[in-house]
Amino acid sequence: MNVRLTDGRDLPIEMHKVRIVQRTRLAPAAERLAAMQEAGYNTFLLRTRDVFIDMLTDSGTNAMSDCQLAAMMVADDAYAGGESYYRLADAIRDVLGLEHFLPVHQGRAAEHLIAKTFVKPGHKVITNYHFTTTRAHFELMGGEVLELYTSEALKTDSTHPFKGNMDINRLEAAIAEHGAEAIPFIRMECTTNLIGGQPFSMANLRDVSRIARRHGIMLILDTSLISENAYFIKRREAEYFDASIGDIVKAMLAEADMMYMSGRKSTCVRGGIIATNRREIFDAIRPWLPVYEGFLTYGGMSSKEIEAMAVGLREMTDLEVASSSADLIAHFVARMVEEGIPAVTPPGGLAGHVDASKLLPHLPQTVYPAGALAAAVYLTSGVRTMERGTVSTDRDVHGNEVMGDLELARFAVPRRVYTMSHIEYVVDRLKWLKEHADLVGGLRFVEEPPVLRFFFGKMEDLGGWGARLAAAFEKDFGPEA
Ligand SMILES: Cc1ncc(COP(=O)(O)O)c(C=O)c1O
Repeated sequence: MNVRLTDGRDLPIEMHKVRIVQRTRLAPAAERLAAMQEAGYNTFLLRTRDVFIDMLTDSGTNAMSDCQLAAMMVADDAYAGGESYYRLADAIRDVLGLEHFLPVHQGRAAEHLIAKTFVKPGHKVITNYHFTTTRAHFELMGGEVLELYTSEALKTDSTHPFKGNMDINRLEAAIAEHGAEAIPFIRMECTTNLIGGQPFSMANLRDVSRIARRHGIMLILDTSLISENAYFIKRREAEYFDASIGDIVKAMLAEADMMYMSGRKSTCVRGGIIATNRREIFDAIRPWLPVYEGFLTYGGMSSKEIEAMAVGLREMTDLEVASSSADLIAHFVARMVEEGIPAVTPPGGLAGHVDASKLLPHLPQTVYPAGALAAAVYLTSGVRTMERGTVSTDRDVHGNEVMGDLELARFAVPRRVYTMSHIEYVVDRLKWLKEHADLVGGLRFVEEPPVLRFFFGKMEDLGGWGARLAAAFEKDFGPEA
């Protein structure tokens, strides 16, 4: 939430107090260099003891509320029929307006079950934009993912409020070309992750829903970041300026046949759900739940996390909670823009993003500029970010490199975890990096896994630039920084 200061500026202010803390440590530059080399220039392979500010992801790393922690203490650990399940069922009915649900261990488990049930070889799965694990599951079942984003989506410097919209003309054309029977469902991702946490509008969702219904195609929402998308609708779409987050969430879900979510984001827990009002969809997926996850009343989740999710679902509809990371991100992005750092605009949910192809224009996509930027950020600050570019885009079935649509370093802002001074530190180190951008070189894979290579792949810094960058940083800030 923002408060208006006397000079007219808006200040994002925390609507909570911090009562449990976890120590962090800023390892000196020489240690960071050794850690980065050990990690194969892949930020996923760093140990957290070497990380100062962890902006790798907002997934499972958010601060839980006192009410969530309290709810975990009354969890019912029965194998079948546990009361925790029924408390989550009540929350899903109240908050999402949905009757049937399946608990799973996290978002990709939901994608797995949905893909297994509905995607067949040759199918075309239509989406506003893919997510890494989503595409992997749909392709593993023999489907092809068609991304029907608008011409604004990939512009990193934009003022368009809804870059996550689906292009309605492209949608009509794709259905005409492939036929409705080849399309198992249309998937709309809230606060679209890989293009910079960008929302879609309610108007666009309604258009997609209308077309889907006309052709008898199922519409699925990936609601992992639904509270943030609802918050952007409230702030950016005139019809909803006075609506509550809860009403917007319900209105969004009323347009869809089914939703799934990673609970690790908007609800601040570790788990996930698939939910629907259509009994036949629930019945089609349910047989697979005990095979891959667990019995219906816990699925892939611990009963403690089920209790915390029941509370987290209700809390995510509080304006203060829905806006907690979005407003800090808006401040972060504004500060980056002020300092001339090429941040993705407008600010989205989940993270501030830096366009590596603009910050490091001398690096072609073949040497992974976003991966290089993520490594350079760590070397010069101890801040861990995530590559969202060509490294995160797997090769095609013939083994050819597929260039990412964008080359972004993602600075995730977990909910209620970091403060303004952390953000100011990050901006300052990015400023230094911008002035020393010529010291950053490219990367090359030395170990490359066949699928989702960004998780475990190892790379090397071409020409040994990492050591030169660390030395230049140490010269300016001293050995302890
Ligand atoms: C939009 C979206 N969908 C699905 C997933 C996968 O969820 P999980 O990491 O819980 O498996 C993520 C994770 O970041 C996501 O952002």
